[in-house]
Amino acid sequence: MLEVLKELPSDSVLGLIKLFAADTNADKIDLGVGVYKNEQGKTPVMAAVKMAEARILEAENSKTYYGSDGNSAFLEAVAPLVFGASTALADRIVGCQTVGGTGALQLAAKLAISCNKDAAIWVGTPTWPNHLPLFAAAGLEIKTYEYYDVKSQKINFSDMINALQSGRAGDVVLLHACCHNPTGADLDLDQWAQVASLIAEKGMIPLIDSAYLGLGVSLEQDVKALQLVISRVPETLIAFSCSKNFGLYRERIGALFVVGKDGHSSSAIKSHVQYLARTVYSTPPNHGAAIVTSILSEPGLKKIWLSELVESTQRINDMRQQLAASSSVGGIDLVALGNQKGMFALLPLSVDQVNTLRDSFSVYMAPSGRINLAGLNRENIPYFVSSLGKVLNE
Ligand code: LMR
Repeated sequence: MLEVLKELPSDSVLGLIKLFAADTNADKIDLGVGVYKNEQGKTPVMAAVKMAEARILEAENSKTYYGSDGNSAFLEAVAPLVFGASTALADRIVGCQTVGGTGALQLAAKLAISCNKDAAIWVGTPTWPNHLPLFAAAGLEIKTYEYYDVKSQKINFSDMINALQSGRAGDVVLLHACCHNPTGADLDLDQWAQVASLIAEKGMIPLIDSAYLGLGVSLEQDVKALQLVISRVPETLIAFSCSKNFGLYRERIGALFVVGKDGHSSSAIKSHVQYLARTVYSTPPNHGAAIVTSILSEPGLKKIWLSELVESTQRINDMRQQLAASSSVGGIDLVALGNQKGMFALLPLSVDQVNTLRDSFSVYMAPSGRINLAGLNRENIPYFVSSLGKVLNE
């Protein structure tokens, strides 16, 4: 039976990990997978994480199961990062620990299908390359619109609004909470308000992918758009990830938060989310959840984590501004990058140009032309800019 399977191409983002590792060029630059790198090009374990792990090793006295929604202390600890300190919404919120932010997206999509088997999801392009296959695998019909025009490096807001005008009640609208992946171009709060009102008017439900909170401006600023949406629509799905802001990539720790219309629906929503998780992986792994809980519940550790997060965000922003200061390379205007946010920028490059940068200069990026700014440092920026210039001027 298995002989029917044809080999698939490697993942456009994760496939870069092995290619980069195998490259022996001492000048190689990794701008591929979205992980934070320090000035030395390393992705170290955060000090707060190391300390939390030492405490967990000492204190953990059982590895028995939690339920399908995972570690409740973790959910209580992270909810304020998303919803703020106020408990006003508390009875409307259902939380479920998930296998990374991807697990939360998958559960959210399946939940939408459970409510409406004909649901479509509206996805602005370009987007994280895994969004489309993930939602298709969950059974959602995918409807795309142009979110960002790569050539002019501008958000196509009118296209977004026009597209969402044809949404049907029960459809899902995917939104990136901040630090848009792959463009770095976020809506302003006025645009967010318009999108939220339209979603509410049409009876659609937003699914807010929140993988980069804290890595744009600050935790408080980056969550503002998400909170604005929650205040304007009756129901919201939030996929929260701790991969980037806690540097816990391979621990696969995230959460799905569902904000229901009112407290009455919470127990039904919870039962469905738990059922969906049970059918896929039964219960989520705890190590990442224990780390995050320990950090957020111990003031000393939280302070260390926050300062590490601020330092990472500042370094990324510094690299962004350095690149923007190059103003123009081979006809690409880099100034626009200076006003964007987060780890990523999307350069208007063809796949051939991306391949030449990789094969002739050992500069690795996603095939879309997305670069991870954290892969830059003061030493390699000149090499990157000159390689880019050579390829664009060919
Ligand atoms: C990325 O966008 O590079 C990261 O989110 C890693 C991934 O899983 O694709």
